[in-house]
Amino acid sequence: MNHYNFESKSAQEILKWSISEFGPKAGLASSFGMEDMVIIDVLSQLKGDITIFTLDTGRLHEETYEVMERARSKYGVTIKVYFPNKEDVENLQRNKGFFSFRESMENRKECCSIRKIEPLNRALSNLDAWITGLRRDQGLTRVDVEKVAIDDNHNSILKINPLADWSLKMIEEDIKINDVPINALHKKNYPSIGCAPCTRSIEKGEDIRSGRWWWENPEHKECGLHPRS
Ligand code: ADX
Ligand code: SF4
Repeated sequence: MNHYNFESKSAQEILKWSISEFGPKAGLASSFGMEDMVIIDVLSQLKGDITIFTLDTGRLHEETYEVMERARSKYGVTIKVYFPNKEDVENLQRNKGFFSFRESMENRKECCSIRKIEPLNRALSNLDAWITGLRRDQGLTRVDVEKVAIDDNHNSILKINPLADWSLKMIEEDIKINDVPINALHKKNYPSIGCAPCTRSIEKGEDIRSGRWWWENPEHKECGLHPRS
C-alpha cells in the first residue's frame, strides 16, 4: 500500500496491511473499550498475528478485567500486560496518598506518567508500529488524528489509527452486527473508560469523553498516551 493514500483506505484494509507489513512487531494498545474490541474482532476475522498489549494501571474497573477475559476466551488472544514500576507506585502512594491525582494537574500527570506512560514506553520499545482505537470525533484533542503517522514521541515507529474516521454510531453498529463483547460499563453511560477513580458516567448530550478527568478542562483531557505532536 502506498504510504500516501491511507486516508482513503478502510479499517479492514489498513489492518490487513499492518499484519502483512509488521506481523507481531505491530502491537495493538488496548484498553478494551468499544473501539479496541472492534479492532480485535477485525484482526480475528483477518487471522492476524499481531501483538495485543494493555497497560494495567492497577486502578482499572472490575468490568474491564471481565471484558479482557471475554476477549481471551472468544478470540483466543494472548494479552501482554504491562504493569507500572512497583517502586514508583509504592513511593507515590507512600508520599502522596491514594488520590493525589485529584489535587492538581501536576499530580494527575505524575500518576498517569507512572501508571501509563512508563509502561507504554516499555511496551513500544520492542515494536515497529502501534495500533490504537483513537477516533477524530472523540473531542477537541483528537480532531487531527491521522490514519497512519510517524510517532515522533516514540522512536519514530508508526502509529496506526484505523478507526480515525469512524463515528460512534459506526462503532455501535459494528458491535451489533458482529456480536462483539464489550465492557459492561458502556451500557451504563460510560462511552469512554479509563481508570476507575478518573472515569464517571455521562449525561445525555454531554461530550463523549466528559466523564474522563471530569474536573479538568476539555483541552487538557489527555493522559500523555496520545500527545498532539
Ligand atoms: S486515554 O489516553 O484517554 O486513556 P482513550 O481511553 O480515549 O485514551 O483510548 C484511546 C486509545 O488509547 C485506545 O483505543 C487504546 O488504543 C489506547 N489506550 C488507552 N488506554 C489504554 C490502556 N490502559 N492500555 C493500552 N492502550 C490504551
Ligand atoms: Fe492515575 Fe487517574 Fe491517570 Fe489512572 S487515569 S493513571 S488513576 S491519574
